[in-house]
Amino acid sequence: MAEIPTLEDLEQQLGDLSGKRILVRTDFNVPLDEPEDGGPATIVDDFRIKAALPTIEWLTGRGANVVTASHLGRPKGEPDPRYSMDPVRSRLGELAPGVELLENLRFDPGETGNSPEFVATLVDGIDGYVNDAFGASHRAHASIVGPPQHVPSAMGRLLEKEVEVLLGLRNKPKRPFVAVLGGAKVSDKLGVIEALLDVVDEIVIGGAMCFTFFLAQGKPVGASLSEPDQVEVCSALLAKAAEMGKTIHLPDDITGTDAQGNFAQFGSRLGEGAIGYDIGPGSAAAFTDVIMDARMVFWNGPMGMFEDERFASGTKTVAQAMADTKAFTVVGGGDSAAALAQFKLDDEVSHVSTGGGASLELLENGDLPGLKALRND
Ligand code: 3PG
Repeated sequence: MAEIPTLEDLEQQLGDLSGKRILVRTDFNVPLDEPEDGGPATIVDDFRIKAALPTIEWLTGRGANVVTASHLGRPKGEPDPRYSMDPVRSRLGELAPGVELLENLRFDPGETGNSPEFVATLVDGIDGYVNDAFGASHRAHASIVGPPQHVPSAMGRLLEKEVEVLLGLRNKPKRPFVAVLGGAKVSDKLGVIEALLDVVDEIVIGGAMCFTFFLAQGKPVGASLSEPDQVEVCSALLAKAAEMGKTIHLPDDITGTDAQGNFAQFGSRLGEGAIGYDIGPGSAAAFTDVIMDARMVFWNGPMGMFEDERFASGTKTVAQAMADTKAFTVVGGGDSAAALAQFKLDDEVSHVSTGGGASLELLENGDLPGLKALRND
């Protein structure tokens, strides 16, 4: 595999960067708080903006004119004021004064459609391109895969670090290597679970995702969120894991509400009308033991509906175990990173990835469209 060019390689190729216009694709897809009165949205967490600063500062420190570009949310290929980059632009203006930020790339259908015309607009007047948008590098979108075909290109510091850490997990695992997976939709994660079986020693499953596995084990789930059309695939995965001698840990107690809507705790069989919203305390303790005994842990997806304090304790216990274990710990983006920040444990793990989908896909496939593009494969 060809090496991916670094910022130093870009400087060597372009010569003195002073006055050069460099397009930096960032992932500024930050969570926003949209007030109900329709007032301007505010940024809930600026982690992804701060994560791009080392690259931006490296370039501006050499006199380059940096133009950043990102998507925000999922607008439908036309301008939509709800997804304007304005709140991001003002935060970026405080953190990196003088750095330009283009309007939301997804306001143009050419971004997700990867149209050559849109790529041409992006690289017009640009001397070089840097991809620092790890969180979006699993998307074969125009701003991710297009520019390297036209201008000298490199990966930024954030992308470099993310790839080093995640490929390190995949290619040089320290055993036992445990994946902790949560979140609501099992269908989003089935491919990953299957691929992870080849890489990890044990998989811990929490979040609403566990209910489809319960169905596969013939256990009733009450009115909990589940995906009956995925039951067969879950059965096949459980069988495959057993065949490979790998353990899939599922919760054996659940916290949620009973048929009357009252807070309740159950075993792993839920009666009619009961809804599970979190793993129970026994499972949280069992999952903690698995994490404490591991030498490497990758965590993606909360164990329950942690936004509601009544159902936060499973996610909080797992987050605390991630902080306490001596293992090398990586948290993959999105909700699990937000949970870690909410519990003020984000400084206590080895690496918090800025990418949710991207980190899973890199672990699964060992490569991403954005990386292939930089290698000009
Ligand atoms: C993310 O938030 O995971 C990235 O910014 C990618 O966003 P997307 O799933 O809308 O492509």
